[in-house]
Amino acid sequence: MITRNLLLTISESKRLTGFISRNGLASRLARRFVAGETLLEAIEEIRKLNSGKTRATIDHLGENVEDRAGAQGAARVYLDILDAVRRERLDANVSIKLTQLGLDIDNEFCRDNLFRIAEGAKALGNFVRIDMESSAYTVRTLDIFRSAFERYGNVGVVIQSYLYRSERDVEWINGLRARVRLCKGAYREPREIAFPRKKDVDRNFLQLARLLLEGGIYPAFATHDERMIEGTLSIARELGRSPEEFEFQMLYGIRRDLQKGLVEDGYTVRVYAAYGRKWAPFFVRRLAERPANVLFLLKNLFREG
Ligand code: FDA
Repeated sequence: MITRNLLLTISESKRLTGFISRNGLASRLARRFVAGETLLEAIEEIRKLNSGKTRATIDHLGENVEDRAGAQGAARVYLDILDAVRRERLDANVSIKLTQLGLDIDNEFCRDNLFRIAEGAKALGNFVRIDMESSAYTVRTLDIFRSAFERYGNVGVVIQSYLYRSERDVEWINGLRARVRLCKGAYREPREIAFPRKKDVDRNFLQLARLLLEGGIYPAFATHDERMIEGTLSIARELGRSPEEFEFQMLYGIRRDLQKGLVEDGYTVRVYAAYGRKWAPFFVRRLAERPANVLFLLKNLFREG
């Protein structure tokens, strides 16, 4: 049986994700989760989202970049995205993975690439969100986030409710007065550092949501789980938080009905719009989140065969 763990192992393999990215059917199915291959295509999709009163955060796909030129190139792409957001008057900020900016090469080099983007975003009055990758990167990501936040102010980070350490991290970031996006976590993690059971991940999500609504700065709740959304809303009501004080975030192409419903109810919704040609690891993580997506893919592979 194809398990979440197997899919997450596949998502970590360059050879297997390379194979997947050359498969026509996978490429067509990935389009459901990816806002296009080019920035122009992504801009069109974001325009549609904005016209439905939904905000966006733009991710240029790519992770674990191994050479300096590639990482510097990725930083330049983000500066271009920020320019395009301003020029096209889009309601969007950017989301970045530090391994795309050279975290596997050298911490300082990666930090400098992030600084360039944060500086560019600040000049344009925009905001940079640092995605959280696997636990191999948590400490370094938080360190680099802190230096960028202290220097520029317009930088936020992501906290994953599956990690045992996250409560301490939320308290620390609340103390910094920085912005957090809370999610469950999308990587394969050992039980020594992460809750193995979904029930505990969900319970911790709501516990962290409470801490963020009590003492955080404009927290973002990134989930498609209706129970997490309802739970978060009930905590917000209990604490007297108004809809302007937080936002929900969802992935492009997932639960559009829920996105629309929340907007209609007066809540802010931001869609994570990823675009680019290196979609395979991102796509396989989306498959791991919902086995039905894999069954659909397999059925069609057999049909094509
Ligand atoms: P859960 O997985 O319990 O799903 C609840 C329901 O949502 C499912 O029953 C299904 O209906 C729907 N659903 C969820 N995923 C789906 C999918 N792939 N296809 C179809 N339906 C699906 N993770 C991380 O480690 N670091 C990060 O920086 C981020 N960033 C991020 C940004 C945003 C905006 C979102 C929404 C998510 C992330 N994530 C992330 C991913 C996150 O950690 C998590 O893996 C997914 O959001 C899935 O968890 P849910 O909270 O949606 O609940």
